[in-house]
Amino acid sequence: MTTVSRPSPAGSYDPATTTSGGLTGELARLEAQADLSFPEELRILHDLGLDPADGPLIEVGAGSGAVTRRLRAAHPDLAHTAVDIDADLLSHAAGCGAELLVADAAALPLPDASAGYVLLRYVLQHLSDPLPALTEALRVLRPGGKLIVTEVDASCWGLADPVYPELASVHAALARAQESAGGDRTIGRRLTRLLRGAGCTDVVLRPFATTNDDRPTADFAPHLGPGRLQPLVASGALSLGEFALAADRWNRFRANPDAYVMLLGLTAAGTAP
Ligand SMILES: C[S@@+](CC[C@H](N)C(=O)[O-])C[C@H]1O[C@@H](n2cnc3c(N)ncnc32)[C@H](O)[C@@H]1O
Repeated sequence: MTTVSRPSPAGSYDPATTTSGGLTGELARLEAQADLSFPEELRILHDLGLDPADGPLIEVGAGSGAVTRRLRAAHPDLAHTAVDIDADLLSHAAGCGAELLVADAAALPLPDASAGYVLLRYVLQHLSDPLPALTEALRVLRPGGKLIVTEVDASCWGLADPVYPELASVHAALARAQESAGGDRTIGRRLTRLLRGAGCTDVVLRPFATTNDDRPTADFAPHLGPGRLQPLVASGALSLGEFALAADRWNRFRANPDAYVMLLGLTAAGTAP
């Protein structure tokens, strides 16, 4: 692993306090999250023309390598560099064949016009200003290279049926905690304008959906389960009673054969001029 810049706090993202179980719990959550939607995300990468001959691919904010490993398995012949500001998290990506680089998304130690693809997945929402990272991505891309960003938007995260209105205060507490941590969980609606504003041409938006018609309901636990609420109990933002209610409703939901969940993700892509 190459370390070229001093690690600094990774925006609004703290892997030790994102879900229950601290860092170990977050590593499992990142794996489960990638496992759930990677087939759809890979389909979009193929639709966008991903070609190993046009590498390397620079994955910025690769974290523990949940997607790095899956992309390496799908395309072992695509040169791949995984970059993250958090050296500890990135060390979990070792051994999959990608080059590892500890660096800030806004100051990549890579030459101009040296990459065919730059991918940022669930990273921009954690940055106080996404533009320096996008400008830096365009600097390292060759003309014609692709900048690809995947994000969510809290207002259209998907749907779950049945709805439990009694969880309204729990959802509000989670939204407040996410807002106070900084970052922008409604960045999804701004992706195409951000890419155009940074200088990309041919900008497209490709939503993707994952449902429990394709996967067991239990696989949606990283998104719907109580794990992400546990740190709120520890910080006092949520009562133990509210946590227990949310856990009970999740257990009911996943035991209900008629329950339906659809998660939406948003991938935007643009071409480097
Ligand atoms: C939610 S995690 C997503 C990890 C990975 N992309 C995935 O989808 O599994 C966000 C990642 O962005 C990284 N990150 C945040 N700010 C960064 C920055 N300024 N430069 C590089 N990485 C950053 C964090 O360290 C973390 O690994």
